[in-house]
Amino acid sequence: MESKGKTYKVKDISLADQGRSKIEWAESRMPVMMKLRELYGKTKPLKGMRIAGCLHVTKETAVLIKTLAIAGAEVSWSGCNPLSTQDDVAAALAADGISVYAWRGLSTDEFYWAIEKTLEFRPQLTLDDGSDLIFTIHSKHKDMLAEMYGGSEETTTGIHRMDAMAKEGALAYPVVAVNDAETKWDFDNVYGTGQSSMDGIIRATNILLAGKVFVVAGYGHCGRGSAMRARGLGARVIVTEVDHIAALKATLDGFEVSTMDAAAPRGDVFLTATGMRDVITGRHFAQMKDGAIVANTGHYDVEINIGDLEKIAKSKREIRPNNEEYRLADGRRVYILAQGRLVNLAAAEGHPSEVMDMSFANQFMAMKFLAEQGKDLKPAVYRVPREQDEEIARLKLETMGIKIDKLTPEQIKYKTDYSQGT
Ligand SMILES: NC(=O)c1ccc[n+]([C@@H]2O[C@H](COP(=O)([O-])OP(=O)(O)OC[C@H]3O[C@@H](n4cnc5c(N)ncnc54)[C@H](O)[C@@H]3O)[C@@H](O)[C@H]2O)c1
Repeated sequence: MESKGKTYKVKDISLADQGRSKIEWAESRMPVMMKLRELYGKTKPLKGMRIAGCLHVTKETAVLIKTLAIAGAEVSWSGCNPLSTQDDVAAALAADGISVYAWRGLSTDEFYWAIEKTLEFRPQLTLDDGSDLIFTIHSKHKDMLAEMYGGSEETTTGIHRMDAMAKEGALAYPVVAVNDAETKWDFDNVYGTGQSSMDGIIRATNILLAGKVFVVAGYGHCGRGSAMRARGLGARVIVTEVDHIAALKATLDGFEVSTMDAAAPRGDVFLTATGMRDVITGRHFAQMKDGAIVANTGHYDVEINIGDLEKIAKSKREIRPNNEEYRLADGRRVYILAQGRLVNLAAAEGHPSEVMDMSFANQFMAMKFLAEQGKDLKPAVYRVPREQDEEIARLKLETMGIKIDKLTPEQIKYKTDYSQGT
């Protein structure tokens, strides 16, 4: 817990050694991040920069935080979800001198208190997952805006918030949309969320997924990854969508596509992955089978309307960790995992290190870019430059020992020569 003179508040500092082992394990799986440490540990491009971060405190995030510090930054951190902090990792960071204000199970007030604590050293850069930090600075600490170099955003929902702020002219400093880098969005959200959401569902339930009817709401990046992995485990997958193109992709990928109303009485397991509110509501719960399991992997806990379920439930109890049983008047039981918060982070450990290697390499490069050029940029949402994406993919392949072909000079010429036909 917080003690006088210490710049941290964690659950239990004595967990530090356990956290250090976890971080070491992640480091052994994140070769691109290790390469960045090697490259920028000497030149220290972040020297003199104060970075506040608000992103899930996991072992992979610890690798990012340490890499930022090795490159010269002073860092202060809070978690971006009340249930995703790994207390041992937070303890290890605190014990190693990082300002960290994070513990699993904090209340909404404590969540915002933690953000406020990370702002006390007046950051010049922000690193967000959901944009709560950027939004807090813009709404409550306008006096800090002049000192800001920029910020970065990790997730789809946060980018939506930033795009909306920029459109209204309310964004006061440049923000790099890390989520939208191809080496992030097409890997972390797809393969990371896909695997870790199954992991969270399995840890919270230990059910056999083979043969189950598994309903995935949303066939974007996270939904596609989740549908793919659920199918791989033998589930019969139904996809629900609101976008015709996404629904068509799901259909041609071989999934059954349906409405949530039609899927509600058929599903054994439901997973929302939309970033949208009220995807599963009272009328869906009313139709579900006895024993239906409902989870969310979208950023906020708004996708499943648990309030509606509370209204029709007669009783509620925790049957396993991260698994609450709601009993309805007619005796049917519905199970909500991780209180409707992202199941992969609340009930499991979040994305595997290997995929966060690329996401956090993009975050690191975004911080470096903003430290060098942020002051010259207009307030807007910036996409990651293509060269950065390509370089991270190249480094990742190199660390995996995979070689690819190179275009020959003739092929390069052919690519741009529009005069050649049959
Ligand atoms: N769990 C994690 O670790 C994790 C990781 C990355 C992203 N996320 C979050 O997951 C969410 C989805 O991210 P994404 O990158 O897949 O976004 P995306 O934009 O690629 O896909 C979202 C999809 O949901 C669909 N959708 C929207 N409303 C719907 C509704 N009512 N019913 C059915 N489908 C609907 C959209 O049409 C779209 O195809 C976001 O909140 C994002 O921040 C979570």
